[in-house]
Amino acid sequence: MSRSGPGASRSAPEPTVEERRVTILVTGARGNVGRHVVEGLVRKGARVRALTRDPARAGFSDGVEVVRGDLSRLDSCRTALEGVTAMYLFPLAYRTSDVQSFADVAVNTEVPGLAAEAGVRRIVLLSSNAVLYGADEHHQQAEAAVEASGLEYTHLRSGEFAMNKLFGWGESIRKEGVVRSGFPEVVGVPIHQADVAAVAVVALLEDGHQGRGYELTGPQALTEREQVGEIAAGCGRGIRFEELTPEQARENWLAQGMPAEVVDEMMAHSAHFAEKAPVVRNTVQEVTGRPARTLRQWAADHAKLFR
Ligand SMILES: NC(=O)c1ccc[n+]([C@@H]2O[C@H](COP(=O)([O-])OP(=O)(O)OC[C@H]3O[C@@H](n4cnc5c(N)ncnc54)[C@H](OP(=O)(O)O)[C@@H]3O)[C@@H](O)[C@H]2O)c1
Repeated sequence: MSRSGPGASRSAPEPTVEERRVTILVTGARGNVGRHVVEGLVRKGARVRALTRDPARAGFSDGVEVVRGDLSRLDSCRTALEGVTAMYLFPLAYRTSDVQSFADVAVNTEVPGLAAEAGVRRIVLLSSNAVLYGADEHHQQAEAAVEASGLEYTHLRSGEFAMNKLFGWGESIRKEGVVRSGFPEVVGVPIHQADVAAVAVVALLEDGHQGRGYELTGPQALTEREQVGEIAAGCGRGIRFEELTPEQARENWLAQGMPAEVVDEMMAHSAHFAEKAPVVRNTVQEVTGRPARTLRQWAADHAKLFR
């Protein structure tokens, strides 16, 4: 029906093309994954609203609507959710700013219900593959809350981010050209944050991914020793590997200022993967149509941060 045709005065005007574009809310938008989600959605022509506690530091491309919001203050999220059709939800946890304890993240369990009340139809949740072996209670809670909200959902059950290498090993590589590890033969399949985001973009925009829990990994299973070799090759500098006992590794993490409960989680993850090596999953390629980036590629992308 034409907007100027007969009867147009009694029925609501048809939405314009612009109005038909759904608004997608990206939380954690300035973060490692979130920034790539924002950029990926923009490249696909989506209308993006980015949530941050500090809009002045947002720095997104033109056309991204930036809103102030704090996921630990639910009132501030209500405004951000107005008119939103789909959202990328990242859970608050240790390392995400001021949250120092997993006990602080109960807010993750309330946001999905708030989103449902606000009329959101779809949530893509950044979760963790640790839920598959009964760990990471905060991710389990977030998944349960998303499912209880009744919305369409996709859980992105990511394995360890390659970014963890920067947090864990970056300083000693920069200062001393060395990595100290208590788990030299433990295998990991680190994933580039851009690949997690690429899957999120597809699940936000396309049908056929709802009700799914996608396990996401990088493309190669590598021991910690091999990972150091790949990082050295990618960032173009020599890196020595120095072996610690697991107990020394624990002390090392505590000395870096990590809370004891986080160190305990990391020790549990290492013990788990020493027993049962993680498996390479092809999900990134299956969902996005392009292969997951290697650790060497990731290191090349972040080479400046290792010098
Ligand atoms: N590391 C891993 O190996 C791994 C594996 C699987 C899953 N995960 C999950 O990945 C998540 C981290 O994702 P990421 O690396 O993309 O995030 P990130 O870079 O650590 O941080 C994302 C953003 O969170 C925002 N933020 C912090 N506190 C906030 C609050 N109270 N309210 C609103 N925004 C807040 C900050 O943005 P502003 O300063 O702009 O507000 C920050 O830029 C973890 O929470 C974990 O659940 C991690």
